[in-house]
Amino acid sequence: MRKKIVAGNWKMNKTLPEAEQLIKELLNKINTEQKVEVIIAPAFVNLPLAVELTQNSDIEVAAQNMHFEDAGAYTGEVSADMLKAIGVEQVILGHSERRAYFNETDEVLKKKAHKAYEKSMTNIFCVGEQLDDRKAGKHFDVVKSQLQKALFDLPLQAYKKIIIAYEPVWAIGTGETATPEQAQEMHAFIRETLAKKYGQDLANNVRILYGGSVKPGNAADIFSQPDVDGGLIGGASLKAGDFDAIVEAAKKL
Ligand code: 13P
Repeated sequence: MRKKIVAGNWKMNKTLPEAEQLIKELLNKINTEQKVEVIIAPAFVNLPLAVELTQNSDIEVAAQNMHFEDAGAYTGEVSADMLKAIGVEQVILGHSERRAYFNETDEVLKKKAHKAYEKSMTNIFCVGEQLDDRKAGKHFDVVKSQLQKALFDLPLQAYKKIIIAYEPVWAIGTGETATPEQAQEMHAFIRETLAKKYGQDLANNVRILYGGSVKPGNAADIFSQPDVDGGLIGGASLKAGDFDAIVEAAKKL
């Protein structure tokens, strides 16, 4: 039985005081009853506060990115060791916004994924096709290639700390969601792709999240699909009430 995950990607939102307020609201509202894993990913500058405030709570903290080198002349970058030193053990890698706006290629993401493995960090790895890919019927090929290029040189044991997030780019921040059937179809395909490479056992255990306009009103329908193990939430993770409602939807399944 795969435990569901509800993860909030805050993206470039919330100043330190705003982050403090939101985290305190989340701590008041969210009660996972150990049925759901809850993760928040605030901006780098808010991570130390997030770690401090969520100590002894059910809420875990992830970064939204990291560099693949340990240290050095990489102005503006943050390393795995820096994250670990403040108690952050999870990182989102390969988000479509990083791929699109910051030129993160499959090769770069492969290095980042290997660094996360080397440093024993949980890698919440994002894949997903553009609208044109889907219209051209290439969505399965695109997602398969993203997985293969960045993750398939990793050994089997690396997947203990890999969570896949399927985020169709056309559904991110657009209000347009993949239908539960579209999500299920892709999640099943991702699991099958993992099974072919690493075996069915591993594929059965990897958690695959859906991301793209998940809201309180559609979360239950999407999360109830057999291969959907929760969600990576953008906009709705910035409102404590909405995020809590999505956690509640996951809890009931
Ligand atoms: P939205 O939920 O705002 O569509 O964002 C999804 C996302 O990109 C999460 O990483």
